[in-house]
Amino acid sequence: MTTPQTTVIDTLSRHPIYILFIFFFLYKIVVPKIRQETNIKKLLVSSNDLEPTSSDNNITFPKPDNINILQHGKFLSALDCWKAVQEKSHVFEDAPPGNKSNTWFLVTNVDNMSRKTNNLHSKYYDDCGIWESSKGKAFHQDYLLSDNFRTIFLKNDQYCTKVRQSGKTLFVPITPQPESTSIVTMHRYSTVLKDNNSFIKHVTWFNSSFANDLPSIAVYEYSGTYSLENATNYVRTHQKTLEKVVDECASKIIKRFSYR
Ligand SMILES: *[C@@H]1O[C@H](CO)[C@@H](O)[C@H](O)[C@H]1NC(C)=O
Ligand SMILES: *[C@@H]1O[C@H](CO)[C@@H](O)[C@H](O)[C@H]1NC(C)=O
Ligand SMILES: *[C@@H]1O[C@H](CO)[C@@H](O)[C@H](O)[C@H]1NC(C)=O
Ligand SMILES: *[C@@H]1O[C@H](CO)[C@@H](O)[C@H](O)[C@H]1NC(C)=O
Ligand SMILES: *[C@@H]1O[C@H](CO)[C@@H](O)[C@H](O)[C@H]1NC(C)=O
Ligand SMILES: *[C@@H]1O[C@H](CO)[C@@H](O)[C@H](O)[C@H]1NC(C)=O
Repeated sequence: MTTPQTTVIDTLSRHPIYILFIFFFLYKIVVPKIRQETNIKKLLVSSNDLEPTSSDNNITFPKPDNINILQHGKFLSALDCWKAVQEKSHVFEDAPPGNKSNTWFLVTNVDNMSRKTNNLHSKYYDDCGIWESSKGKAFHQDYLLSDNFRTIFLKNDQYCTKVRQSGKTLFVPITPQPESTSIVTMHRYSTVLKDNNSFIKHVTWFNSSFANDLPSIAVYEYSGTYSLENATNYVRTHQKTLEKVVDECASKIIKRFSYR
């Protein structure tokens, strides 16, 4: 008894011309299809994903271009963050690679938004290494635009200001209650580097009832000195670079294949 499989192999070995047909099919139909899909994926990779120049034992880790300095490592105020997302002077597609000690810059937050709508956790990639997720904190705070970005609090459905009176904290309702077009909410995520908890990162973005695209830009701030000395959790490769490497491997395989 011969199984259908051995019949096929027998036929192929007796008539090698069929092997040529199979190769022709792979080369003409399968390869161009893979190549097309690879190219589509490549468009998603930004030019900011380059690795810092380095050899294995001698790492030069320069500050990226187009970033701003955090004076004395002091984080920006909520109002400064607000002004920065309004000005949009330079918006990175991803956190730029390099030494981010005491710096801040803007990054598109659209990825985060789509991840959120797809019920995935938000991710803020960079090349600093592992951030201590157990020490990550997220919070939000309301501000009143019409009153010089004053901090306001929603208590019992009423927007209030916080005042201290004879050692007590009181929430005093604002009269009349502010228009919704005058209220912005700041969202902030803060975390610390696993290798050095005094290297702190803030990611800040805003939402409001009057500007739907407001959450699409985030302010990234890094306070502290980034050191590679004794770094055990350092990953130099950006998440998106990893995707690119996968793409490049795929196209190399295709190339080698098409030389046959
Ligand atoms: C690292 O490389 C730079 C330039 O290539 C060189 O000037 C420097 O001496 C090197 N440092 C070490 C520790 O090897
Ligand atoms: C971005 O991520 C933070 C933290 O996970 C999340 O709270 C926030 O909703 C996300 N932003 C948007 C626009 O979805
Ligand atoms: C802004 O975000 C906060 C917290 O996620 C939410 O409660 C509020 O409704 C949002 N504001 C608008 C105008 O969407
Ligand atoms: C940790 O960060 C602090 C402040 O940025 C810095 O002074 C210190 O040298 C760093 N420690 C290590 C082990 O890198
Ligand atoms: C990053 O820059 C700071 C000064 O801004 C410097 O002290 C630190 O050593 C640099 N870190 C690396 C890994 O090059
Ligand atoms: C790195 O480790 C060495 C040896 O354990 C230690 O002497 C040195 O102080 C460490 N450097 C930092 C910046 O912590």
